[in-house]
Amino acid sequence: VNAPAASFGAAGFRRCLGQFPTGVCIVTAPGGGASAEGAPVGMTMNSFNSLSLDPPLILFSVDRRARSLSAWEAAPAYAVHVLSQEQRELSQRFARPATNKWEGLAFRPGLAGAPILSGVAAVLECTPHARHDGGDHILFLARVERFRCDPDRKPLVFAAGRYCELGSAHEEAELWPLAIHY
Ligand SMILES: Cc1cc2nc3c(=O)[nH]c(=O)nc-3n(C[C@H](O)[C@H](O)[C@H](O)COP(=O)(O)O)c2cc1C
Repeated sequence: VNAPAASFGAAGFRRCLGQFPTGVCIVTAPGGGASAEGAPVGMTMNSFNSLSLDPPLILFSVDRRARSLSAWEAAPAYAVHVLSQEQRELSQRFARPATNKWEGLAFRPGLAGAPILSGVAAVLECTPHARHDGGDHILFLARVERFRCDPDRKPLVFAAGRYCELGSAHEEAELWPLAIHY
């Protein structure tokens, strides 16, 4: 946090990093502990990535300034939802530092009570594995305990600071099983 300022501007650095397209996730965790009135926590994240097949690990990072940081640190489980391209509004709802992110939203309790949202391209239910310093973020590694995938839903994409949709490349996804032995 007290590292000397980088020799380049933050805006240009963000723009450069934004050239790398990602999916968009909403990660949720059960309420309790420090979260307001025990409400569950949920945050739009594109720092999600796959990490390890054996053991099955994924990662995401949370800004140290997030209001929900202590709830993430105390959470016994997380549900990582890979959003479908119909879920831009849901992404925006969970990208704001609001206390009422859950208002009027249906969800069911998953592993250890972590909320499960519907209409997503995939959901991975995880338990905490490790946390590491990540500069102004904290890096969370999590173990996948179970997952569900809906191949009929196209994933939402985020690139160059904007939401996008996959083009025809998605229809060629049948190629993926051939590439899995890389
Ligand atoms: C596409 C997108 C991706 C984001 N990815 C992350 C992320 O990986 N980590 C993070 O801490 N914030 C990320 N944010 C910002 C958070 O969603 C936002 O600051 C958060 O909802 C605030 O939560 P709070 O109420 O806990 O402060 C992202 C926002 C958008 C729109």
